[in-house]
Amino acid sequence: MGPGYRGSRPLRPADLLSHKREGRAIAVLTAWDALSAALVEEAGADVILVGDSLAMVVLGHATTLPVTLEEMILHTRAVGRGLRRPIGQRPLIVTDLPFLSYQCGLDDAVAAAGLVLKDSPAAAVKLEGGEPETVAVVDRLVRAGIPVMGHLGLTPQSVHQLGYRRQANDPISQERLRRRALDLQAAGCFSLVLEHVPGPVAAQLSAELEIPVIGIGAGEHCDGQVRVTADLLGLTERQPPFCPPLLNGRQLGVEALRGWVAGLASPPRPAAELSADLSADPTTPAAPATPHC
Ligand code: KIV
Repeated sequence: MGPGYRGSRPLRPADLLSHKREGRAIAVLTAWDALSAALVEEAGADVILVGDSLAMVVLGHATTLPVTLEEMILHTRAVGRGLRRPIGQRPLIVTDLPFLSYQCGLDDAVAAAGLVLKDSPAAAVKLEGGEPETVAVVDRLVRAGIPVMGHLGLTPQSVHQLGYRRQANDPISQERLRRRALDLQAAGCFSLVLEHVPGPVAAQLSAELEIPVIGIGAGEHCDGQVRVTADLLGLTERQPPFCPPLLNGRQLGVEALRGWVAGLASPPRPAAELSADLSADPTTPAAPATPHC
C-alpha cells in the first residue's frame, strides 16, 4: 500500500497534519468548474481550493468582494462533478467563505459555512483574517464540526485597506502576524495560507506552527504552496508578481483560436469541390467526360 492510500475516503483536513509531520510538501491549486477541477486533480493536487479569486478570474469582477455564498456553492458543486478519481484518491475540496458571509455574527457564520458543507462536496472552508472577532468565528465553526483553513498576510477581502501590497515588512507587523497565526492555530484551524509576506517570516512561522503553512508569494520554505491555477497557466490578463506563469496559455489559446477563425474565412477546398465548381461555371469550358470502359 502506498503512502497515499486512504481506503475509500477522500483526503481529510487532518491528513494535512500528517503530511507536515512526514515532510511531504502540500500542493494546493484553485479550481472553479468541472473542467479546471479535472485538470488539477489529474495534475496530482492534494487540495483543490475553490477560492473567491473566482470572482475576478471567471466572473469578471474587479475584486473578490462581490461573489456571493450561492455562487461559491454553485462553483464548488461543479468542481465536485469534475473529479474522476476513485473516492479514496480524491483531493480535499476547500471553499472560500466570501466577504460578509462570516463577519456579521457567529450564528450567521455557522449558517454560511454549514451550507457550504451541506450543499457542496467541500469538506472545509477558508476565511481571511486573525483579529479576535475572526478567531472567535473559527473557534465557533470548529466546535460545530466545520474544518477551517486560515488566511493571513495579504488578504484580498481587505483590498480597500491593504491594497495588494506585501505585508509584514517590519518587526511590529511581523510579531502581529505571528500572534494572529498562533491564535488561529489555538482556535482550531487545520492549516494556514500565508499570502505575500517575506520568505524568512513564512519560513519561521512554518517552523513554529504545528499546523501546515501553505504559502503564496511567501518563499519556498513553507509546508505547502497554493497557486491560482489560471495564473500558473498564464490565462489571466495580469499575473501577480509572485506568481510567474508556467506557460503563456492566453497567447497560445488566442493563436490557436485565431487560426481556426481565419480558416473559416478561407477554408482549404477539396479537389472534388473545385472541379464541381469549375463545371458549374458558365465561363469555364466543361471538363471532358471521363471515358467509361
Ligand atoms: O481565492 C483564492 O484563490 C485564494 C488563494 C490566492 C490562496 O485565496
